[in-house]
Amino acid sequence: MQLEGKRVIVIGAGSGIGRCVAVAASEAGASVVLAGRKQESLEATAALLKGPREVRVLDASVEAQVAAFFESVGPFDHLVSTTSQGASGPITEMGAASVERAFAAKLWAPIFLVKHAAARIAPEGSFTFFSGFRAWKPAPGTSITSLVNGGLEAFTKAMAVELAPVRLNAISPGVVDSGAFWERLGADARERLFADYARRAPARRVGRPEDLASATLFAMTNPFLTGTVLAVDGGGPLM
Ligand SMILES: NC(=O)c1ccc[n+]([C@@H]2O[C@H](COP(=O)([O-])OP(=O)(O)OC[C@H]3O[C@@H](n4cnc5c(N)ncnc54)[C@H](OP(=O)(O)O)[C@@H]3O)[C@@H](O)[C@H]2O)c1
Repeated sequence: MQLEGKRVIVIGAGSGIGRCVAVAASEAGASVVLAGRKQESLEATAALLKGPREVRVLDASVEAQVAAFFESVGPFDHLVSTTSQGASGPITEMGAASVERAFAAKLWAPIFLVKHAAARIAPEGSFTFFSGFRAWKPAPGTSITSLVNGGLEAFTKAMAVELAPVRLNAISPGVVDSGAFWERLGADARERLFADYARRAPARRVGRPEDLASATLFAMTNPFLTGTVLAVDGGGPLM
């Protein structure tokens, strides 16, 4: 029970990796605050937890909502955020609205979360953000994904210096079969992507949300881990 007596906020708890992190934190003894934009998805996660939990609807890319959230949520120990909004395609065809949505989820949300949580998080607490392997393994059409993930990693390191001793880390997943994240591709393209990644990656499979949840618990509980990017990707980007 590594998180016994701890309060953990999970933003993005309604799906994928965030849902799995919420379950793992609860099983490790934490009281969990489940946050995201969709009440129904958050309630579905809450139903999976046996320990203390509360559901909070929050758009983390809206500063006023984030400020009000932390004013009402009270003291806490750890915050994990998986917020993400895809923007893929050639830069020549990229609309500003898509870019802005990606920035909102991966850059503005972490900025607002850190800004408004900094005075309330426990001094031995931690923030864990999710970037992604495209930060350092770009492909045609991933420019905005690469940009926001790289930016988030740089921001995380800068905040680890500025907010010490509070710890900040980023986790960089490879291709993970997390449900909603790859649905936009359609079933056939998704299966091809998963098969290709599993063939190339030294781990010989795609990731599972549980792989990322266990890394997140490590990031939350290891007192000497800060300012780093943990690549949890089966080695796929090496190939
Ligand atoms: N799965 C992969 O293969 C993979 C690969 C590389 C990187 N990653 C990164 O890993 C993280 C988790 O991925 P995942 O697979 O779990 O994706 P996911 O299921 O799409 O999770 C993203 C979560 O963020 C929430 N969210 C988005 N914008 C938000 C906002 N403004 N405020 C509050 N919540 C917001 C979404 O919920 P609502 O829409 O209900 O708010 C959703 O629950 C993401 O950052 C992703 O970029 C994943």
